[in-house]
Amino acid sequence: MKYKIKPEPYYEGLPPFNETGSPFNVSPIHYHPELVQDCCRLINSEWPRSNTARLRSLEASCDTLPVSLILTTDNFRRVIGHCKLSPIQSKRNACFVESVVIDVSCRGQGLGKLLMKCTEDYCRAVLGLEIVYLSTTDQEGFYERIGYQYCRPISMYGPRHCDLPTTEKSKKKYMKKIL
Ligand code: ACO
Repeated sequence: MKYKIKPEPYYEGLPPFNETGSPFNVSPIHYHPELVQDCCRLINSEWPRSNTARLRSLEASCDTLPVSLILTTDNFRRVIGHCKLSPIQSKRNACFVESVVIDVSCRGQGLGKLLMKCTEDYCRAVLGLEIVYLSTTDQEGFYERIGYQYCRPISMYGPRHCDLPTTEKSKKKYMKKIL
């Protein structure tokens, strides 16, 4: 992975906001190479896959798209959340959010909502995007709660790839948010 020097001005996510003084930040993973292994572990704890495949995906993170964002605490020492933003070939003003995960010990405290809020801010303010798309099989309630609306299926790779097998079609819900 080619790690970058932080550009100026650098989008560092949120300032500390909680009452115990422990700050949360959302940052691109490629500015925190020391956290890549922890990030792999976090994603694999939810969706087990080879470490090599995970590393490859995280190593593709760059200043445009794709980019993997991490939610950290303890002054950038602990990774407690992740999501990946990928380009959509047919929509230059949008991206596809995947692999949204909060550490199981931290769920139910508003951190998923925080990660998504910062992700949306990053999409708008840093990447200049206008729409965020995603698909989910069982977390639609979460995304409804944070303002996502159901939409027609969308493929990252172009219109021809939208024809999913029937079983997949019935389980996957596509949602979007206009930023
Ligand atoms: N159904 C309905 N409402 C929900 C759900 C749900 N499944 N999950 C959370 N909410 C609500 C909460 O009650 C809360 O409501 P409030 O604002 O009224 O208090 C609000 O949504 C925000 O919840 P958070 O506490 O921020 O959610 P959390 O930190 O637990 O993160 C997440 C949610 C990311 C889905 C987490 O549960 C997780 O990591 N799950 C496992 C991985 C997963 O399934 N990820 C989504 C894959 S889909 C994709 O990546 C596009």
